[in-house]
Amino acid sequence: MPMIREAIVTTAGPLGAPHIAPLGLIAEGAHWVLAPFHPSTTLENLRLTPFAVANFTDDVRVFAGCLTGRRDWPLAPSEVVSVPRLRACLAHLELAVIETHEDALRPRFVCRVVHRAAHAPFEGFNRAQAAVIEAAVLVSRLNLLPRAEIETELNRLAVAVGKTAGEREAEAFGWLVEKAARFFAGEAEEAPDGRHSGN
Ligand SMILES: Cc1cc2nc3c(=O)[nH]c(=O)nc-3n(C[C@H](O)[C@H](O)[C@H](O)COP(=O)(O)O)c2cc1C
Repeated sequence: MPMIREAIVTTAGPLGAPHIAPLGLIAEGAHWVLAPFHPSTTLENLRLTPFAVANFTDDVRVFAGCLTGRRDWPLAPSEVVSVPRLRACLAHLELAVIETHEDALRPRFVCRVVHRAAHAPFEGFNRAQAAVIEAAVLVSRLNLLPRAEIETELNRLAVAVGKTAGEREAEAFGWLVEKAARFFAGEAEEAPDGRHSGN
């Protein structure tokens, strides 16, 4: 299995409108592969403008925010590509797409690093940050995974958050738990006989 780094990926849409989304960067030798699922704005943007920025941040509110309708994080111009970067990232990679492998479900964009920069020190691992990333992945799959699996996992992740979170991590986790709860409450209303579309 290739190594994957979780990043906030910036892309540019029509008229250069920036879009940010959490995405895995898949290691492939010296290159990174972006593999956005169909349908997604990131996918459409990469077809339109074959450049992206991978932003590495320890502010996990950005991951949780993107999945809960809070995408308005401050951006700054990049050095080489026309796509902006996240202003508060610790480091970023500016990427140019050099190959596209089409796939009905998940096309792969092979990217070359055209610029890299570090902006702030990495301050060490925090279990609550890792837990928020895991919770964000679960919340990005509310339609796909069984409800019981999501709830069990969120309860397990809440332990690390309870023990190790700072304010940012606690807030981010709260957004995700709220989104999952709303999703399942909506499902329950739609299926009064107890069936859940996610199961
Ligand atoms: C940590 C993390 C990694 C993710 N990696 C991917 C990925 O590699 N490909 C993908 O399509 N979605 C991924 N997602 C889900 C997307 O962020 C989410 O579906 C997003 O809304 C993309 O759609 P958009 O480009 O339309 O905003 C990931 C989510 C999280 C939290």
